[in-house]
Amino acid sequence: MHQPTRLVVLVSGSGTNLQALLDACADPAYGARVVAVGADREDIEGLARAERAGVPTFVRKVSDFETREGWDASLTTVVERFEPDLVVSAGFMKLLSTEFLDRFLTLNTHPALCPAFPGMHGPRDALEHGVKVTGATLFVVDAGVDTGPIIAQVPVAVEDDDDVASLHERIKTAERAMLVDTVGRIAREGIAVDGRRVRIGDAAR
Ligand code: GRF
Repeated sequence: MHQPTRLVVLVSGSGTNLQALLDACADPAYGARVVAVGADREDIEGLARAERAGVPTFVRKVSDFETREGWDASLTTVVERFEPDLVVSAGFMKLLSTEFLDRFLTLNTHPALCPAFPGMHGPRDALEHGVKVTGATLFVVDAGVDTGPIIAQVPVAVEDDDDVASLHERIKTAERAMLVDTVGRIAREGIAVDGRRVRIGDAAR
């Protein structure tokens, strides 16, 4: 069997997507291992989840740096130390520099069906627009906001009595399953990105 794919996961909050990956990685057949968890802030549940799982953590706060470029460089350096095959941005609330993205294949989850409703408020914007179906998207991060090549999507129906919280919770349940399934397939079978077209599987090798 191949060495497990090395994942660095970046978080800013509750870290339920991270937890789903940690749980999946407990099975050697999954094919991946979380080698480090990084955050842009302290005292978040995402970091506590990593610590409970015995996974090394690091924090890089923008406010600790004189310039944004300094923060970008420090984040790249610390992630590099863990030699990831893949970086997963799972609820990480910062944009990553092009240097970072050129260096690491980085995936992100967004709680909407891209290209609809990019940005910080996917569930709210979907609800306000009145769509009947929204969902979650896993994509390869590029220089834009939720604009990168799409790897996987899952639909979630909007219910008449949904509010932002109830809709986001249902999206997150579907999002976690999609993330775990897709990252595992990438780890075991490979990924090829050709412009906007992404392929997972033997053909990708
Ligand atoms: C997810 O819905 C993610 O798509 C969005 O923020 C949420 C993070 O949740 N950007 P968690 O921290 O993984 O629980």
